[in-house]
Amino acid sequence: MLRHDVVIVGAGLAGLRTCVELRKKGIDAIIVSKVYPTRSHSGAAQGGVNAAFDENDSWESHFFDTVKGSDYLGDQDAIEILTSEASANILELQKMGVVFNRNAAGGIAQRPFGGQSFPRSCYYADAVGHMMLHGLFDNVLKYNTKILYEYFVTSLVVDDGKVSGIVAYDIKNGRFEGISAKAVLFATGGYGQVYSSNTNALINTGDGMAVSIKAGIPLMDMEFVQFHPTTLKSTGILVTEGARGEGAYLLNSLGVRFMSKYAPKTMELAPRDLVARAEQTEINEGRGVDGAILLDVRHLGKERIMEKLPQIMQLSIDFEGVNPIYEPIPIRPGAHYSMGGIKTDNNCRTIIRGFYSAGESACVSVHGANRLGGNSLLDTVVFGRRAGIDIAEYIKGAVYGKFDESILKRDEEIFENLKESSGKERHGLLKAELQEEMRADVGVFREEIAMKKAIEKIEGLKERAKNIGIDDKSKTFNTDIVEAFEFNNILLMAEVIARGAVSRKESRGAHYRTDFPERDDTNWLKHTLATLDDKGNIKFDFSNVSISKFEPKPRTY
Ligand code: FUM
Repeated sequence: MLRHDVVIVGAGLAGLRTCVELRKKGIDAIIVSKVYPTRSHSGAAQGGVNAAFDENDSWESHFFDTVKGSDYLGDQDAIEILTSEASANILELQKMGVVFNRNAAGGIAQRPFGGQSFPRSCYYADAVGHMMLHGLFDNVLKYNTKILYEYFVTSLVVDDGKVSGIVAYDIKNGRFEGISAKAVLFATGGYGQVYSSNTNALINTGDGMAVSIKAGIPLMDMEFVQFHPTTLKSTGILVTEGARGEGAYLLNSLGVRFMSKYAPKTMELAPRDLVARAEQTEINEGRGVDGAILLDVRHLGKERIMEKLPQIMQLSIDFEGVNPIYEPIPIRPGAHYSMGGIKTDNNCRTIIRGFYSAGESACVSVHGANRLGGNSLLDTVVFGRRAGIDIAEYIKGAVYGKFDESILKRDEEIFENLKESSGKERHGLLKAELQEEMRADVGVFREEIAMKKAIEKIEGLKERAKNIGIDDKSKTFNTDIVEAFEFNNILLMAEVIARGAVSRKESRGAHYRTDFPERDDTNWLKHTLATLDDKGNIKFDFSNVSISKFEPKPRTY
């Protein structure tokens, strides 16, 4: 059994940012991660991180844009924190060594992003996530932080309403480890693997969210799934919104810039929910190109493409066989981001004392029903830092709780039983069925009958999952078993999403119901809170949205 004051699970931007805050104060904080930190999915973020720097811009304008972008479901007290603390956080990153492109005056260059009234996305070409991840990781290394990588978290240990540690599976050595702690932070990212055609790494299987709901912690607003408008047609790999920020067009099969019909003022720079729906409508109505839409950057010219968008150029060549300098890129909407997650307060605390969450795994809620591009990286650093500050205070008065070792034994037994299983089902095949069902029936457009079909499918998959067989019986790097566990996590996430989406009888942000096409503030201006009952069934409660400044209005662009 290991013992550390603070355990940070997840080594993406939120986890690393929290870690730096704690380690610079000399606090005994360690990182536990499923992958080596620089393989975390934050490194795939491309286009930008938002902050109001220009003298003609203001954080108040960023505040309003984010509230409007969230379709008024975001909590305004939290959004005020996000936007008012943005610029200080970015400048702090710079001091830590994170590099951004420069403008003519030598300041941080900024590009336009969707749904924002000012160009306020700070960037490093089209690889800002990569730059931020490496910059923060360097700082974590500078403080000699202990990192347990290739450790897969399986349980949270709670003692009398207070966190007392975690249980994790050591993938490399095929054994379980208990880690006793005064405070635990989950910065475990999203669940993009619930859907086929997604922008997410294979590791994004909602593990932290699944462990949390099983430990009795509510997941908030899980029905809100962001579909990014521009993902490569064949693979779902992200093509940054920064391309449209630089001036790219979206074209249908008639060569028409169809966004003039859906968002005449903002065109390609409307918010993501609106652009994704516009594209899907064009495809559904027969104006797509082989099931896709075309993203055209040719008019930007070779030099600008190579300077500002080199990564998407190479990804298009490698994965789509298209060189964007000469040809438009076939793209379509793909699952990208989880607006919902582990419910936290503005200091990243959950209902369990000493247990925190930050980044995509958390729901503060700053994104509400639709996140603006460039606000997720901001969320990771603003709230990662706040979590670090709060945890540092919390552990001053905290003592180690009782670590119930039976939880470790239970997880061990589940793994052993699974390893010995010779069941006929294979997790990879079940996963593919689940992903396709979710894409087809709980996707960009939703309606009751289709979503109920998805729930039936999920019920069937839950039964079949009991019969998963494992081919790899070895102890070392047994990814067959880890993937079986990951499958169970995405299956649970899919059920929470689908049931939440059926229950929310309105359209708001990314949750668009063709059978309830209007936003309904009278009945649905509220958060959904999913928990599990004694039998493991999902139930929903509700909580109020914090509205401090901007009353809900119709949302037009
Ligand atoms: O399009 C992008 O570069 C993605 C950014 C984001 O999700 O914030």
